[in-house]
Amino acid sequence: MKNLLIRPATQDDAESIFQVHKNSVENLCTADYGAEQIAMWLDGRSPETYRPAIAAGNLWLACSDVLQGFVEIEGLEVSKLFIRGEAAGQGVGKRLLAEALQQIAAAGHTSAYLEATLTAEKFYAACGFRKIGEGTFSRGNSPVSIEIIKMARIL
Ligand SMILES: CC(C)(COP(=O)(O)OP(=O)(O)OC[C@H]1O[C@@H](n2cnc3c(N)ncnc32)[C@H](O)[C@@H]1OP(=O)(O)O)[C@@H](O)C(=O)NCCC(=O)NCCS
Repeated sequence: MKNLLIRPATQDDAESIFQVHKNSVENLCTADYGAEQIAMWLDGRSPETYRPAIAAGNLWLACSDVLQGFVEIEGLEVSKLFIRGEAAGQGVGKRLLAEALQQIAAAGHTSAYLEATLTAEKFYAACGFRKIGEGTFSRGNSPVSIEIIKMARIL
């Protein structure tokens, strides 16, 4: 994608980040997860969800004319990576992942970890991650869960 700028998120970006997160899950993950799972995933999220990571300097954006995607890290973990549905498959995810891995390495870590959606497993494998386990993710007391793939990579 042309004219893509990678920059740290600011608190003013919280609303757009929330919209991209929702758009990404609703457009890109429906082939792998059911409607109940998608609803659980987004349940309770709001722009406020992203503020602590923004304040900690752990969230980066890929912007062109609009916000195309974002990545969040937590220690050595890539904790979120979501691309707007219309922007998928154009190298935005790869650029954001590279930024996240650079930040993780700069913080002194020698490996990175993530819990991939079924949707993203092949993308991460193409980016050098290997599967180290499987698990499930759920929120609050919800009986609904989503399957995830635990993956790691040496930096
Ligand atoms: C998974 C996701 C982050 C990938 O981002 P993207 O911008 O679409 O991916 P890119 O265009 O940067 O692809 C990078 C590489 O991965 C490969 N790739 C991407 N998706 C792939 C897939 N489903 N199968 C195989 N390869 C894939 C691309 O071919 C490309 O390879 P190349 O560099 O050799 O050309 C994005 O599609 C997304 O947000 N998905 C929905 C949300 C989600 O599941 N996020 C992950 C949470 S853990």
